[in-house]
Amino acid sequence: LWNTGNIIEDSISNIRDQVGDDEVILGLSGGVDSSVVAALLHRAIGTQLTCVFVDTGLLRLHEGDQVMSTFTQHMGVRVIRVDAEERFLRELTGVTDPEAKRKIIGRLFVEIFEEESNKLTAAKWLAQGTIYPDVIESAGSKTGKAHVIKSHHNVGGLPAHMRLKLLEPLRELFKDEVRRLGVELGLPSEMVYRHPFPGPGLGVRILGEVRKDFADLLRRADDIFISELRRAGLYDQTSQAFAVFLPVKSVGVMGDGRKYDWVIALRAVETIDFMTARWAHLPYDFLDLVSRRIINEIDGISRVVYDVSGKPPATIEWE
Ligand code: XMP
Repeated sequence: LWNTGNIIEDSISNIRDQVGDDEVILGLSGGVDSSVVAALLHRAIGTQLTCVFVDTGLLRLHEGDQVMSTFTQHMGVRVIRVDAEERFLRELTGVTDPEAKRKIIGRLFVEIFEEESNKLTAAKWLAQGTIYPDVIESAGSKTGKAHVIKSHHNVGGLPAHMRLKLLEPLRELFKDEVRRLGVELGLPSEMVYRHPFPGPGLGVRILGEVRKDFADLLRRADDIFISELRRAGLYDQTSQAFAVFLPVKSVGVMGDGRKYDWVIALRAVETIDFMTARWAHLPYDFLDLVSRRIINEIDGISRVVYDVSGKPPATIEWE
């Protein structure tokens, strides 16, 4: 019988057979797949695993600290956190084109990961959170967005001179199996059942130029939206939800005064495969609450709008 318990046992004995006493490196993003690989490898080989977590500065509110506390404090996994916010922001200065931003973020990600891995000279293996749908995806079209999406997390982006052997313990598993495995391995279910988050992070949710002050405002707005969705029991009914920063100024009133501040768009969709999506028909009272909280609590935001575009014609992300 194929249950989570024996997937874990099988995987652990396979990993031990493959790796022996060798050291293993894993790029930990905080996403489901790499998190489950980290938990699994830690169970299998303990301190032979070193994770590298690149904090791009384009993550959600407290996300970097959460990743560190889950893995280092609670699970005892060895994680090197690279605080690369300044480097990302510097290279993104003045860049407004979405694909140019994606390329820069992807390139830096690989560069920084490589720099850190090169310091771990004892390592012989590079672990990756490749899952079965990724295997199928990259066997098929090389031109579609799907390939572009994964490219910066793939070994294909890493230089050959690293000469690490590839370890992909989730290669035969579907997403729902990976999630069940994660829960079984003791990962928090909010982490395992989290909405997808794009590799370029807030870099493609701040329209146009990425700035630190914009990222800080966006993080707070997004956190209000997501925590209210959870509180209202709506999080699991939506497939993906997030806030987008619009670098547009709009007039508002605050007491006797006039405000002239930025705009936040809220996006929530329902979808099975993320290829097509319906905008989530969230209750008006709920949207009202979120809008009021964002405008009242975040100095710098004067207006909140809700995105009512389906995919197609619109994409899920705004960039
Ligand atoms: P779109 O915006 O194309 O998004 O409708 C479909 C799904 O893909 C995610 N997405 C990305 N994921 N790198 C990623 O890792 C990217 O560059 C990227 N662009 C979009 C998006 O969040 C949604 O789940």
